Amino acid sequence: MNYLFKNIRQLVQVRENHPAFIAGEDMKVLPVIEKAWLAVEDGKIAAYGEMKDWPGISDWRNLEVIDADGKCILPCYADSHTHIVYAGSREQEFVDRINGLSYEEIAARGGGILNSAARLEKASEHELFDAAMERLNLIMHSGTGAVEIKSGYGLSLDAELKMLRVIRQLKEKSPLTIKATFLGAHAFPALYKENKQAYIDLIIREMIPAVAAEGLADFIDVFCERNYFDPQQSTAILEAGKKLGLTPKVHANQMSRSGGVQVGVETGAISVDHLEYVEDEEIAYLRKSKTMPTLLPGAQWFLSLPHPPARKMIDNGLPIAIASDFNPGSSPSGNMNLMLSMACVMYNMNPEEVVNASTLNTAYAMQAEHEIGSITLGKKANLILTREIPGYSYIPYSFGMDLIEKVMIEGRWIRQ
Ligand code: NIG
Ligand code: FE
Repeated sequence: MNYLFKNIRQLVQVRENHPAFIAGEDMKVLPVIEKAWLAVEDGKIAAYGEMKDWPGISDWRNLEVIDADGKCILPCYADSHTHIVYAGSREQEFVDRINGLSYEEIAARGGGILNSAARLEKASEHELFDAAMERLNLIMHSGTGAVEIKSGYGLSLDAELKMLRVIRQLKEKSPLTIKATFLGAHAFPALYKENKQAYIDLIIREMIPAVAAEGLADFIDVFCERNYFDPQQSTAILEAGKKLGLTPKVHANQMSRSGGVQVGVETGAISVDHLEYVEDEEIAYLRKSKTMPTLLPGAQWFLSLPHPPARKMIDNGLPIAIASDFNPGSSPSGNMNLMLSMACVMYNMNPEEVVNASTLNTAYAMQAEHEIGSITLGKKANLILTREIPGYSYIPYSFGMDLIEKVMIEGRWIRQ
């Protein structure tokens, strides 16, 4: 089926040509066509324009005309950082934190990532697939059209491969654009507590070659943080992945100035994510790189961590991406609308900036900016059709409300 939308109140993020990502002052610029029309053909964006140039019904076959009077159309969100494959939930840790324990204290007691690893060990590929597919359906309904998914709750060769095979199946069976990331370096398993080098050797000598041999991942990630992987260990792991074709990403500076940003820039990472602890030195590093600084407001808020200095980063010319970090420990939500609201309120980012940060910039952070992230001829028709709203700023303004009427992925309605 082909579609022709007419009377669109605002067609948002329209870019005939665009740079790989949007940075600095340009982040305030969100190209919009007011009173627009849009054509979708064979799952792709085929044409658009102003209603004054409305082409009328063309002679396409299978054409449906949709009146979007009062409604906005945006490209779907790209969520460039998630841990959506997991077994069980961790609301007890949430309660423990309410009652005074810190995330790091819970982790030190064997909770946190190791808790999820213990549960994942027992789950079958089939069970993990079903649970993850349900989460994908939920985020699709809230406007996400592309998602990066990490391993990292396996922490053994077999369990990491199990997670990545689940992600491969999700790639095959879900309509979403999916990228896979190998995150064996998410935590040290209890077995290796006294011999951390042995776990690093296992990652470098066995896990990475096995992952690469099966073509199971696009990216490689490390949790570069005190009590997790130090900069030297992180670099060794990322370089080993790079040699076998995996592009680096880094969990950086979430709990401390861990050196993760420098590791990311030096290894040519496509993104460094979290960034609660960033100062001038890290900003200077990022300025000389093509690494996307990615903020995860859900995890920062849920763990009551300090705000990353988003305003300062943008004002220093950097790009910013915003993703959900959907995972059972630090961000049990993958609702990108909510992430945008949080970034506006907590980081003083403008609606224009948060839309750029969650569409084109996250598309770049998943190396998918040529196929998604904007209304551009030939890109996938991954579209959010809102209810009747005054304009796109109303989306982050109405935090927690569901303003989406329909979602289209590659020219097919998945929510109607
Ligand atoms: O991105 N920071 C490390 N990893 C995840 C949390 C994972 C968990 O708690 O299960 C994060 O926040
Ligand atoms: Fe994460």
